[in-house]
Amino acid sequence: MRAMDLNGTSAIVTGGASGLGAATVRKLTSLGVRCTIFDRNEGGAKQLATELGAGANAFGGDVTDPDDCQRAVDQAAEGGNLRIAVNCAGTGWVGRVINKDNSPHDQGAFKFIQELNVVGTFNVMTRAAGAMAKQEALADNERGVIVNTASVAAFDGQIGQLAYSASKAAVVGMTLPAARDLSVVGVRVNTIAPGLFDTPLLALMPEEQRKILGQSVLFPKKLGQAEYYGELVAHIAQNSYLNAEVIRLDGGIRMPPK
Ligand SMILES: NC(=O)c1ccc[n+]([C@@H]2O[C@H](COP(=O)([O-])OP(=O)(O)OC[C@H]3O[C@@H](n4cnc5c(N)ncnc54)[C@H](O)[C@@H]3O)[C@@H](O)[C@H]2O)c1
Repeated sequence: MRAMDLNGTSAIVTGGASGLGAATVRKLTSLGVRCTIFDRNEGGAKQLATELGAGANAFGGDVTDPDDCQRAVDQAAEGGNLRIAVNCAGTGWVGRVINKDNSPHDQGAFKFIQELNVVGTFNVMTRAAGAMAKQEALADNERGVIVNTASVAAFDGQIGQLAYSASKAAVVGMTLPAARDLSVVGVRVNTIAPGLFDTPLLALMPEEQRKILGQSVLFPKKLGQAEYYGELVAHIAQNSYLNAEVIRLDGGIRMPPK
């Protein structure tokens, strides 16, 4: 059996200043991976990089901007051995097909969510794959791994999740063709579909509502901690036989209509 040895490799983590991305950065650096934290919150990215020392560096930029993405990937590849790209930058939106007054869902909002969650993931995945393809091959011709972030909303979209579910279903949909495209250069592609995680994104909700949400998880009855996500990324990176897969990480929850 062969596993990718992460020690001494480099990674790029989008949305790495907060939540699931930050937990990923912490886990990967603890395994000896040098992480480039790519986040539009440059201050947050720098703060985490400073805390982690030589194992991390920051890039302030926007994943919807292809030039920013290329520069961030170049920075991550600078020290050589870029093997891991994790896409965590993203956000949600609440809006129904028609509003209470029967007017249509705002088109700008719908497009904004696709641009961030889908095009942002596409931008970084394509550029990171290009950089990985130039790396020396490891055992079994492996060159790297890409982990994208969907959501259980890709499968169990709730009332008001039209834009968000569409974007996350697109991330799920890119997984197999991307893994097939990149098989020739030895780059694996997997997607994690998180359930309900206790991150700043969910902290926007009132405490009482967060408690109720935690109780709705099958088992364990709590919101997920971001560390569970970081652990899974590390496992995906190390397990060379895991490819073209979408993994729900959700305590068994199946979201009801609302
Ligand atoms: N928290 C959950 O329960 C949950 C559940 C399912 C899926 N997800 C998905 O996981 C991902 C991470 O979520 P989180 O909870 O960690 O959120 P978060 O808000 O804690 O972190 C997201 C990070 O992305 C950054 N970001 C946003 N837009 C950006 C852009 N255009 N360019 C660069 N950086 C940008 C933000 O600055 C922030 O640091 C998102 O894609 C989200 O949809 C989260």
